[in-house]
Amino acid sequence: MAKITVVGQGECEFEGQFSMLEALDENGFDMPYSCRGGNCGACAVKLLSGDVEEIQSPAYDVREGEILTCSVIPLTDVEIELL
Ligand code: FES
Repeated sequence: MAKITVVGQGECEFEGQFSMLEALDENGFDMPYSCRGGNCGACAVKLLSGDVEEIQSPAYDVREGEILTCSVIPLTDVEIELL
């Protein structure tokens, strides 16, 4: 299972939840989000290391180096940072 590290907040395991956001939510992280559907961009974070896979095609265009936690799952251990 992949480990998700949130800089300054801690880490948790990804255990097959629907999205990275759901895994972080379940583990008590205070993550920003709104639509959960890849539309608003509220859940965008910086991906510092690791690989992710898109689970839905987001309408929102993230900047280079950023991911939408509602729209991806980690493929490897990842390190992310809130914007
Ligand atoms: S919560 Fe809106 S794009 Fe992720």
